[in-house]
Amino acid sequence: MTAQRALVIFGATGDLARRMLYPSLYFLEQDGLLAPHLAIVGCSRGSVTQDVFAATIEAAVRERTGGAFAPDVWNKLRARISHAAVDATQPESFANLAKALGETRDAIFYLSTSPAHFGAICRNLKEYKIANGGSRVMVEKPLGHDLTSCRAINDALAQTFSENNTFRVDHYLGKEAVQNLLALRFANTLFEPLWNKVSVEQVQITAAETVGVEDRWSYYDEYGAIRDMVQNHLLQLLCLVAMEAPPHLDADSVRDEKVKVLRSLRPITGRDLERKTVRGQYGAGVSEARAVPAYSEESGGRKSGTETFVAICAHIKNWRWAGVPFYLRTGKRLPHRRSEIVIQFRDVPHSIFSGNNLQANRLTIRLQPEEGISLKIMNKTPNLERTELQPLSLNLSLSDAFSGGRRRIAYERLLLEAMHDTPTLFVRRDEAEAAWTWIDGIVDGWRGSGAAPVPYAAGSWGPSGAFALTERNGHSWHE
Ligand code: BG6
Repeated sequence: MTAQRALVIFGATGDLARRMLYPSLYFLEQDGLLAPHLAIVGCSRGSVTQDVFAATIEAAVRERTGGAFAPDVWNKLRARISHAAVDATQPESFANLAKALGETRDAIFYLSTSPAHFGAICRNLKEYKIANGGSRVMVEKPLGHDLTSCRAINDALAQTFSENNTFRVDHYLGKEAVQNLLALRFANTLFEPLWNKVSVEQVQITAAETVGVEDRWSYYDEYGAIRDMVQNHLLQLLCLVAMEAPPHLDADSVRDEKVKVLRSLRPITGRDLERKTVRGQYGAGVSEARAVPAYSEESGGRKSGTETFVAICAHIKNWRWAGVPFYLRTGKRLPHRRSEIVIQFRDVPHSIFSGNNLQANRLTIRLQPEEGISLKIMNKTPNLERTELQPLSLNLSLSDAFSGGRRRIAYERLLLEAMHDTPTLFVRRDEAEAAWTWIDGIVDGWRGSGAAPVPYAAGSWGPSGAFALTERNGHSWHE
């Protein structure tokens, strides 16, 4: 008999589970990628009937799939799902989970709850012998709000799960285009000889959003853009751009290289804080053709010193990247939703084309909304009278190249990788802690200076200081 496996979701009626996890499981079911004997157990406080719980999940799946909802796929998924009433603060309630799991071994526990509950959940899973040596745990950000709290969370997880069985989710690592970065760099010879300070002038990593904070205010206000986006998503992108080629694609080889990058980030302290970082907070403005309120209005008028925009000029202290600025920028209520990495190459050393303004090559890796790669190169315009040059782009649209394929939710890949016990796309403890070490330096500096974030109008590209940040080095943001 094939052993039953299980995915146990804590916080089973929460936002992440409804928006991401259940739709992802539905699509994995549709593609026949879920193991035949996988049971899915949702844990939340309070008892609900199995039917009511299933109806909540069905509604979430229908909302995401719209007209593509297929009752036969749902029925298959429905047959796997059950609910257990478990309250992290009530140890005896874990007996309900033990009962729901029965003989099932080696479950994956997805802790989609506040990190404040991680310690109690892990302790109870161990005490009730629900978790064993083959069990895995998946956890979501925020993994703390600084190095100390991140360590405390990691210690809480480690009381029950070994590091190899701990899967820290950064959903950017599940995005197709982010995965493609590894292919672009390490499955082609074209770029590698140029991928260094000799040929690259600067790198820009932008994750711009048009949405505001709205009903996530109370979570967001404790974190701000630097902890919500830079500590995890943007630094992960920076690692993938800057790291050395790992000897293999296995989890530790890749993560060893990423940690080296994080540890090589030059701390930003003292006077550099003012010159190399910019914090902003959106005021009222116009976003996507409608008037939107200020961050402070969304909070019901409470005054807040939390930033909704950050720009940072980072440097990596190693032989490959010494002296090359890595500009990081993220914000809410910016003019477009766009995540991209721009590698700006250096100017030609000497131009033989007098009268022409040569523009340096630029490689743009677009992650969203559409995925693509474009390379700007100088070309001659066709004419007989004079030599006239013009920059043109070689464009590779990944959605056109792979048309027909559905764009996957990042969590589909992440759930599948955890089920296959492949931790490459998850953040290792030392990686998370190295990222916090660098971020803490900046946050402590900001706190020490007492400076408030600079207001910017919703619908703009952030405070003017963000432009000065690049212009100081003779650079400008790629808009
Ligand atoms: C989350 C942040 O991790 O990423 C959100 O908490 C942000 O604030 C989101 O909106 C952005 O993700 P994506 O995939 O839409 O770029």
